[in-house]
Amino acid sequence: MLLVKPAKREDLHRIEALLTESRLPTAGVATIIDDFHVVRDSKGHVVAAGVIEWHAEEGREPDGLIRSVVVDPVFRGQGIGTRLIDYLTASTDRNLYLLTESATDFFRGLGFESIDRSSAPPALRASEEFRCLCGESAAFMRRSVSFPA
Ligand SMILES: CC(C)(COP(=O)(O)OP(=O)(O)OC[C@H]1O[C@@H](n2cnc3c(N)ncnc32)[C@H](O)[C@@H]1OP(=O)(O)O)[C@@H](O)C(=O)NCCC(=O)NCCS
Repeated sequence: MLLVKPAKREDLHRIEALLTESRLPTAGVATIIDDFHVVRDSKGHVVAAGVIEWHAEEGREPDGLIRSVVVDPVFRGQGIGTRLIDYLTASTDRNLYLLTESATDFFRGLGFESIDRSSAPPALRASEEFRCLCGESAAFMRRSVSFPA
């Protein structure tokens, strides 16, 4: 089974290439490379990546924005995306949010629901991903704390 592991700094270009190939934004990825997790094939090549970006307002617990989740097209449909999200989300008891143009049903299957953008926490709404990276057509989704682990 392919395992989910923390990314290394030298994975940055491969992660950015995967994102670009899938038409996902790469802005800000270098800044949070240390928080990324990846899945590698048997030769050690990165075949999937993703990250939770945390945003907090003063005096509030942070909210997590799942972003830059990508699986190499050759490796899709094998459960790698599901394993990556399960891993990233397993150790948090916070509400999690994301924006997606094309994977709404994938995330719905993992317990996320579409919600109105106006209900996004302010710190998250001010994030670069929220303001610039995802078009207005993107679905905004949330999985609340009460989702069973
Ligand atoms: C979305 C993505 C990460 C899924 O990865 P994956 O490894 O193929 O996903 P899985 O194999 O775990 O699929 C789990 C289920 O979701 C479904 N699914 C996968 N991708 C889907 C998509 N884009 N839309 C709808 N359903 C999808 C699968 O068919 C599967 O359904 P099943 O359980 O009924 O068989 C991958 O398709 C991808 O990299 N897409 C491009 C980038 C992207 O859109 N990222 C999300 C925005 S951050």
